[in-house]
Amino acid sequence: MKSVNRHQAFENETEIETDFKEKMTYTDYLSLDTLLSSQHRLSNHHDEMLFIIVHHVSELWMKLILHEVHAARENIRTNQLGASFKKLARVAQIQEQLKSVWDVLSTLTPSEYMEFRDKLGNASGFQSYQNRLIEFAFGYKTEYVLKIYENDPERHSALIEAYEAASLYDVSIQALAGSGIPVDKEVLNRDMRITHQSNESVKQAWMIVYQNVNQYWELYELAEKLVDIEDLFQQWRFRHMKTVERIIGFKKGTGGSGGVSYLKKVLDQYFFPELWELRTELS
Ligand code: HEM
Repeated sequence: MKSVNRHQAFENETEIETDFKEKMTYTDYLSLDTLLSSQHRLSNHHDEMLFIIVHHVSELWMKLILHEVHAARENIRTNQLGASFKKLARVAQIQEQLKSVWDVLSTLTPSEYMEFRDKLGNASGFQSYQNRLIEFAFGYKTEYVLKIYENDPERHSALIEAYEAASLYDVSIQALAGSGIPVDKEVLNRDMRITHQSNESVKQAWMIVYQNVNQYWELYELAEKLVDIEDLFQQWRFRHMKTVERIIGFKKGTGGSGGVSYLKKVLDQYFFPELWELRTELS
């Protein structure tokens, strides 16, 4: 039987465009030259490429999380809960991808990492401003990152704006109150720069939703989407902490923290505390 060359077969079926003198290519559209020339190893070590790409991929997914969460927050603020669900479900899927990078990174052994770790200086994911923008958007507000970027006016003003803005949880509590379920005024009019602390009236309001799911179906769905996101965020933190322990043990971090001991501590943080607390009390 006469074998058909792959290119011939393709050409027979389609009209392949090959003249891109005046047209945009895939590479142009995606700015691939910029993207793919941004992996600069500071050592000649083979494994540093993995380390850089895993961080780049994570930062790209974080960018999409921010894009989706900001839009979802606006949907909730304008009472379009249905539209927000689509975006929050996408956030959860992105978080699954983010978690998967640890599987790739854990192929980096301690001996391999030690070959180039000193090249990082004080650089650390601790300074990831996108990670802090995500924490701000979820409602966990910490000031130190504003200091880190004090000498970078553009970054600094974006961080301040996010720091002062209502979080995804703030607009969700406002939607809860908007449905007629009472919530303390001090919570609704609170200073958005401060991390939300668990509040009894908010817990009782969510309890009403969970005890009357048919009546408050949309709020119930919103609450569960928030729990999905917090759960996945904590799973990411846990995998990070364990991967770090696997690679550097209990050494100090390049960012200056105690390392694993610090990463264990942040596992205790909550974005949406009442949604977790009510599970104990619900009967
Ligand atoms: C060999 C790989 C890695 C090691 C050994 C490592 C180690 C650490 C350590 C020790 C910290 C605590 C701060 C410090 O003192 O530096 C930290 C924080 C952090 N790292 Fe990593 N990391 C690694 C990979 C990654 C990757 C791939 C990402 C993805 C972007 C990442 C994101 C972060 C973030 C966001 C924080 C801040 C966590 C918080 O404050 O809650 N890390 N890392």
